[in-house]
Amino acid sequence: MADDALFPIGVPAGEGHVVDREDFVESLTQQLSDRVSVVLSAPRRTGKTSVALEVLRRLNSAGVHTAAIDLAGVLSLEEFADGLSAECLRNLPLVGRLSRAIGRSWRELLARPEIRLRLHDLELAASLRDWEDADPWQKVNLALALPELIGERTGRRFVVMMDEFQLVRDLGAAALLRRMRSVFQLQQHTAFLFLGSQGSLMHQLFESAREPFFRYAVGQPLPPVPDPAWRKYIRERLASRNRRIGEDALDAMLDATGGHPYDTMEVAYYTHLLARERPDPIDRACVLAAVDQTEDLLQAVFQAEIEALGPKARLVLGRLAHARPVYTAEDRSQSALRAAVRELLQAGVLVRHGRGRYAFGEPMLARHLRRT
Ligand SMILES: Nc1ncnc2c1ncn2[C@@H]1O[C@H](COP(=O)(O)OP(=O)(O)OP(=O)(O)O)[C@@H](O)[C@H]1O
Ligand SMILES: [Mg+2]
Repeated sequence: MADDALFPIGVPAGEGHVVDREDFVESLTQQLSDRVSVVLSAPRRTGKTSVALEVLRRLNSAGVHTAAIDLAGVLSLEEFADGLSAECLRNLPLVGRLSRAIGRSWRELLARPEIRLRLHDLELAASLRDWEDADPWQKVNLALALPELIGERTGRRFVVMMDEFQLVRDLGAAALLRRMRSVFQLQQHTAFLFLGSQGSLMHQLFESAREPFFRYAVGQPLPPVPDPAWRKYIRERLASRNRRIGEDALDAMLDATGGHPYDTMEVAYYTHLLARERPDPIDRACVLAAVDQTEDLLQAVFQAEIEALGPKARLVLGRLAHARPVYTAEDRSQSALRAAVRELLQAGVLVRHGRGRYAFGEPMLARHLRRT
């Protein structure tokens, strides 16, 4: 296990830190190797990227080509095409080795005649050589075709991960989605893993008959990390620094976070930090102080999430946070409240606990609402 951080926060959980989810990671890996494309849509900070990167690591070591692009990092079609093609070309050892050795991008490399010649071997040069002069759509077409070209050439599968896929909307979605679909349909070696938050938007992109992506990929919910898996991981991590933690302290931690991946990691991290000044084993008071600290740090995030909601959704959340009924006799429009509940369920802010009973997907958000 990499030991750079005791509890990784602010970055996707790396190798050895993806708590539980083993069956899920295995099943995703299997589906993608079988060329089934998958949509993984889950609320913010619940571990989509962590799981996906773990899946790519496994595919990679099984000899599958992989590429990952984060749509949050691209501002135009051209950047999308550039990013995707660079990621795809990394899978060609020649390009990877050369660009590392010379410290240049593959596009600069292709301008060198001797390299162009060798890449011609791979039947790629003809199209790549013209990259600089191509218009954005030509680049997009080529970038989307690259995984299949490379897969065909090497006889291996290719899995492409697209993170924050809901942002495809900002890249001129309709035309891009149509283009993607027509390219994807013809591919024999390639499968896609789409990740996205904003439940309703992802739902719309993949489920609505009006959208060109209709029924393209299989939807997968991200399962929660079970309580015992958290306890084992946290105990073991602390033990690696010769620290112990009481069972009631762990109860307090998981009670406050509900096992929400980001929140739990952050509370665990601050618990360890605060515990440096305290005796062993770590107790409940130390955990509760870490919970406060985490909540302070999350305030701005929570505030932004709340501000993005409509007034009815805020009303519903406020009532639930204070353990009051969602619907009261005084409400003039029950149907507006029902719509707000649906929206909150779809976005994963709420989860259903039996008929008409709802809970927060992120208990720290409820705590925040009670305190503001
Ligand atoms: N399986 C896991 N085990 C342990 N920690 C996890 C796990 N998944 C996520 N985390 C924690 O949650 C944080 C967020 O994870 P990640 O970035 O993978 O989530 P995400 O759903 O992609 O988030 P975002 O919505 O911001 O893109 C990580 O920094 C890590 O601390
Ligand atoms: Mg992510």
